[in-house]
Amino acid sequence: MHDKLECSLTGESHDPAVLQGLSRAGKPLLARYPLHQMRDFTPDVVRRRQDRSMWRFHEVLPVDSPDQAVSLGEGGTPFLRAIPRGEFARFDHLWVKDEGANPTQSFKARGMSAAITRALALGVRTVALPSAGNAAGAAAAYAARAGIKCVIFVPEDTPPANILESVAGGARVFLVNGLINDCGRICRAACDEFGWFDLSTLKEPFRIEGKKTMGYELAFDLAEALGSSELQLPDVILYPTGGGTGLIGMWKAFAEMQQLGWIGSKRPRMVVVQAEGCAPIVRAFERGDREAGVFANAATIASGLRVPAAVGDFLMADILRESGGTAITVTDEELMRGTLELSSEQGIHGAPEAGAVWRAAVRLLDQGWIRSSEQVVLFCTGAAVKYNHLLDADGVIRLNQNSSQLLADLKAGLSQSEF
Ligand SMILES: Cc1ncc(COP(=O)(O)O)c(C=O)c1O
Repeated sequence: MHDKLECSLTGESHDPAVLQGLSRAGKPLLARYPLHQMRDFTPDVVRRRQDRSMWRFHEVLPVDSPDQAVSLGEGGTPFLRAIPRGEFARFDHLWVKDEGANPTQSFKARGMSAAITRALALGVRTVALPSAGNAAGAAAAYAARAGIKCVIFVPEDTPPANILESVAGGARVFLVNGLINDCGRICRAACDEFGWFDLSTLKEPFRIEGKKTMGYELAFDLAEALGSSELQLPDVILYPTGGGTGLIGMWKAFAEMQQLGWIGSKRPRMVVVQAEGCAPIVRAFERGDREAGVFANAATIASGLRVPAAVGDFLMADILRESGGTAITVTDEELMRGTLELSSEQGIHGAPEAGAVWRAAVRLLDQGWIRSSEQVVLFCTGAAVKYNHLLDADGVIRLNQNSSQLLADLKAGLSQSEF
């Protein structure tokens, strides 16, 4: 359990025992734990736990004990070595952390589990949030699990699957003729008016706590995969970045692990991947700015990347600089191509955001920024099932079971395309 909440800009302390949103300076609040006193919390203790969910790291999450968690079994997602096939073979050590295996099929489950756990403990009865889609579905599910109400504001062209799952979860959904930052403004006004708790990412302190567990898990996953008794971090992490909560969370996890004495000071180079049509963090990185501002006319089919303004922009700028990382865009065409390559060459049916990081990795390899001998991790942040409306069924062949020449029909079908 944390014992402090600190402003990420000024370091000013805020009361950890009461509900908090942004800091008094209007910036994200970060939970701090008495890490130096946690001598019994070791990697071996974690390894021996039967719970494979993210709550096996409960000492660094906002609970006194794991049975307080509002959980659907989030975390403990597959860590998959890429099969050396097609362009994947150009990398010697390429890994995919498949967050689509989470409850509600995305990494948003981790953040919602932590944030709704803490909100429930502090007596919240209604949460409200703006979402690009996946956070909405996750919030609805965890609110249902907690027995509290959930109000969601999403852009009107949010993937239908996200809207339907939110409604099914009992949330009240508002479709807004705007982008996620417009939804955020309306959500804030509604929270002020109706007394709901604003669960916008990084505008309350605990979604990031859930998402940071990706960083903890990665160190265990890579060590296990390499047969090492010491925790291991990769050389490069590519992360599809909207609000950046996962990126900031993982960086926080690495710092905590160092303070716990679990790892040294070596860090992965962190890569922000955004869509060409919505790239505020890449633009700020290229200009050397710490603040990113609003990206005008944001547009991409990767809905999770359609975040024109991020409250954690300055934190991402610091991470990119400190880690020696970089920030890169891909086009919608490239990211869809990447998504299909992951599906057809690796069997990983991921969200378009995963296709984006894969194509970004290839480009960085071409540029020599990534070396083929390096340990590289791609974050597949969600499952494709939410994005099936972007796919087509080309190549599907209709077969008449009553045909007198069934096998000949089948053969003709096969010859229609390369198979
Ligand atoms: C599948 C997917 N990937 C990536 C993102 C961006 O995540 P973050 O806000 O942590 O940058 C989102 C956010 O909606 C998402 O749904």
